[in-house]
Amino acid sequence: MSGTGRERQTRCLDVSPSALEAGAAALANGGLVAFPTETVYGLGGDACNAEAVAAIFAAKGRPTFNPLISHVDTAEHAFALGVETPAARALATHFWPGPLTLVLARQPGCPIARLASAGLDSIAIRVPSSDAARQMLSIFGGPVAAPSANPSGRISPTRAAHVLAGLDGRVDIILDGGRCDSGVESTVVDCSGDRLVVLRPGGVTREELAACLAGSGLHLAPTIPPSGSSQPASPGMLASHYAPRAALEMNVTHARPDMELIGFAGIQGAGAEKANLSPTGDLVEAAANLFDMLHRADAHGTPVIGVAPIPPDGIGEAINDRLRRAAAPRTG
Ligand code: TXA
Ligand code: MG
Repeated sequence: MSGTGRERQTRCLDVSPSALEAGAAALANGGLVAFPTETVYGLGGDACNAEAVAAIFAAKGRPTFNPLISHVDTAEHAFALGVETPAARALATHFWPGPLTLVLARQPGCPIARLASAGLDSIAIRVPSSDAARQMLSIFGGPVAAPSANPSGRISPTRAAHVLAGLDGRVDIILDGGRCDSGVESTVVDCSGDRLVVLRPGGVTREELAACLAGSGLHLAPTIPPSGSSQPASPGMLASHYAPRAALEMNVTHARPDMELIGFAGIQGAGAEKANLSPTGDLVEAAANLFDMLHRADAHGTPVIGVAPIPPDGIGEAINDRLRRAAAPRTG
C-alpha cells in the first residue's frame, strides 16, 4: 500500500531550453516538476490529471486537501478554464503575468481535476511572470497545479536548494532558475461571486488592486464579511465548504440498501455506482478518485454515502480529514 507515492529519482537541471522540454515532458507523463516563479518555487503537476494532483499532496505530506492554484501561460487560456467577469478581466489585464491569482467559477467541461480545487465549483488560476515558468507552461500546453514546493508546514522555497532539501526523492525534476524575486506568494482574489474578496494577501497589494478596479467602477469587499454573511472569511474555511448533499458515514464495511457505498481495497462498492477508490489499496489513487466519486454518488440523490475504512498513513490522513469534515454535523 502506498501512502506517499512512488520514490522518485530527483534530477536537478539548470534552466535551459532542453531542461524546460524535459520538465514539460515529465508533466505530460504525470510526473512532478518543481519550477521557479517570481514568488516561490512551485511543486507542479498536470492539473487535469487527478493522480498527478494527488501525488502533489502526497509529496508535500499535506494532512488536508487545500485547493491548489493552476498556472497557465496566458489570460486567454485562463478564461477558457474559468468564467471571465469584468473584474477578473480588468485584474488580469493589469497584473498578468504576475503574482495575482484569480478564483473563477469553473467553465462547463473544465478539465481541471476536482481534487485540485478540493471539490469546489471554482478554480484558482494565475499567469506567472517568470520566463522559465511561462516557457515551460507553453511547451506543456495545459494548466499546471502548483503549491509552494516545500513539505507541509515548512518555509516556502525561494531557491532550488531549498526544494532539494525538502523534497529530494519526492519530485522528478527540479528546474533551477536561481533565486525567486519576491519570496511572497501571490495575492488571491475571489472573482467567482457577487463580492470581490481578497482571500490571501500577497505580491500585489490591496491598494494596487483597488486602484485598478476603480478604473472600471468596481471595488473590493471589506476583509471581514458582515456578520450573517455566508461569504467564508478565509480560504481555509472555503476549503471545508464542500460537502455532499447526502449524509456521509465513514468506516462502512457493509452497505445498507439506502446507501451508495464507496469501496476501498477489498471492500467492494455498492449502490448505483459500485465505486471503489482503489481496488489495489493505493492511497494516492484513492485521493485522486475521492472528489469525483463523492460527486457521482451524490448525483444519485441517495440519502447516505458510505465510505470504506481508509488507512491513516501518508496521504490517507488527508483523505480521512476530508471525510471527517464531510461527515461532520451540518451547520447550515
Ligand atoms: O505564489 C503562489 O501563488 C505560489 C506559486 C507556486 O505560484 N503558489 C501557491 O499555491 O501558493 P497554493 O496552491 O499553495 O495556494 C493556494 C491558495 C490557498 O490560499 C487556497 O486556499 C487558495 O489559493 N485557493 C485555491 N483554490 C481556491 C478556490 N477554488 N477557492 C478559494 N481559494 C482557493
Ligand atoms: Mg505554501
